[in-house]
Amino acid sequence: MERPPLAGIILAAGKGTRMKSELPKALHSVCGVPMAELIARAMRGAGVERPIVVVGHGGDLLVKALGNKCDYAWQKEQLGTGHATLMAADLLRGHKGSVLVTPGDTPLLSGAALRLLADHHFETGADCTVATVHLTNPTGYGRVVRDGRGNVVAIVEDKDASDEIKLNNEINTSIYCFKTKVLLDILPTLKNENSQGEFYLTDTVTAINANRGMVHPIVFGDFEMMIGVNDRWQLAEASKALKTRILKRHAHAGVTIVDPDTTFIGVDVEIDLDTVINPMTSIEGNTRIGAQSEIGPNTKVINSTIGNGCIVLMSHLNDTTMLDRSRCGPFANLRPASIIGEGSKIGNFVEVKNATLGPGVSVSHLSYIGDGSVGATANIGAGTIFCNYDGFSKHRTEIGEDAFIGSNTTLVAPVTVGDGAMVAAGSVITHNVAAHALGIGRGRQEVKEQWAAQWRKRKQATDKH
Ligand code: UD1
Ligand code: CA
Repeated sequence: MERPPLAGIILAAGKGTRMKSELPKALHSVCGVPMAELIARAMRGAGVERPIVVVGHGGDLLVKALGNKCDYAWQKEQLGTGHATLMAADLLRGHKGSVLVTPGDTPLLSGAALRLLADHHFETGADCTVATVHLTNPTGYGRVVRDGRGNVVAIVEDKDASDEIKLNNEINTSIYCFKTKVLLDILPTLKNENSQGEFYLTDTVTAINANRGMVHPIVFGDFEMMIGVNDRWQLAEASKALKTRILKRHAHAGVTIVDPDTTFIGVDVEIDLDTVINPMTSIEGNTRIGAQSEIGPNTKVINSTIGNGCIVLMSHLNDTTMLDRSRCGPFANLRPASIIGEGSKIGNFVEVKNATLGPGVSVSHLSYIGDGSVGATANIGAGTIFCNYDGFSKHRTEIGEDAFIGSNTTLVAPVTVGDGAMVAAGSVITHNVAAHALGIGRGRQEVKEQWAAQWRKRKQATDKH
């Protein structure tokens, strides 16, 4: 049977007072991705084409972060979860299926769980299906009240609950699937007569029962997935839980994670088979790492692409590409728009920025390669500096294939050293060096025979007096 259409609403208008933050709560990130974006992805994973995000507090920032893959409804005043859902009603008029409703603060929620919820909802034909979990400490959550047949007859908020209801440890995750029409009919009828003076979405459950409708629970065993983040400590706990899930996913896919406690891998990172991630390593953003590479220890990689068989040792990489079998570190700093060629070697205390290195290049020690290019198999000696900045603008240094730059060379850009050329150690190069030529720019060495011996002799003679 074909599944009826499925819409989705993410409630993300709240300020999140308990976060004590200038940012709206749903924009706080877990493992590098804003919570609302994680939930929007889960919704898409469950088959919702364009989730509707209800925004209010800091709404412009949320719209900017989530972009045009979502629709938006505005809740100008935060009058409660029921009122927030009502703000999405106009976008749902005439919708002939069901609608998932989730808060914006459950970052571990998966698409598979939402799909399970929707499938169950369509199978039973309930008016509303609510995802519940059993918690050892249910304090703060809405409690689920069931009738003799196991259907949900009410959800009572912690702040409104009697001592008896507070003993109930089955809680409302705030993740629901409603028949769209049923939801749209009930929302305008909600009242705010409760301890918080808010329009509660949870009151739709009582209203559906009053109309002889049916609310089904679906109990999830994985309570961690339903964690709601209300303060920064819960944010930290959610980050830790999601981090562990991400590490496990990579480990099960054939990546060695040497120390899960000190390894951080962001949600969108991809890593191929037999790569080893050593301790104290953080891999973030849209980073892609090939097979059989070794990353870390003590390494941070952001938005970078690393090929197969690479080694990244105690280094910092941001927006960089390392091609197959290249290596860097210890203590390399590879900054945006750097491309390290196949099999190239970047050694200790080397900084590269906006530069393209061909295959087989060697920059083994203490250099700055900024704004330029280095041809295949060129050798850059220790202490080479690309002087790219004149105080006003940046200029480029181009080094040809197989060139040899002696140690402690200063290349004053714009300048070119041709293919196969050599530059003598200690040179300050201000003019181009032609292919296969030698560039030398330093004081000529003088050797004074016996000078040292004579000087010592003079000193000894004068000191005796
Ligand atoms: C809510 C549920 C509670 C459930 C818990 C699960 C209600 C009344 N309570 O409580 O039963 O156990 O989630 O985590 O629904 N929001 C708006 N506009 C508003 C108010 C809230 O958009 O006017 C958004 C918030 O940004 C948030 C979500 O709704 O993403 C939930 O609000 P929150 O204040 O966190 O509700 P809880 O107190 O956690
Ligand atoms: Ca919450």
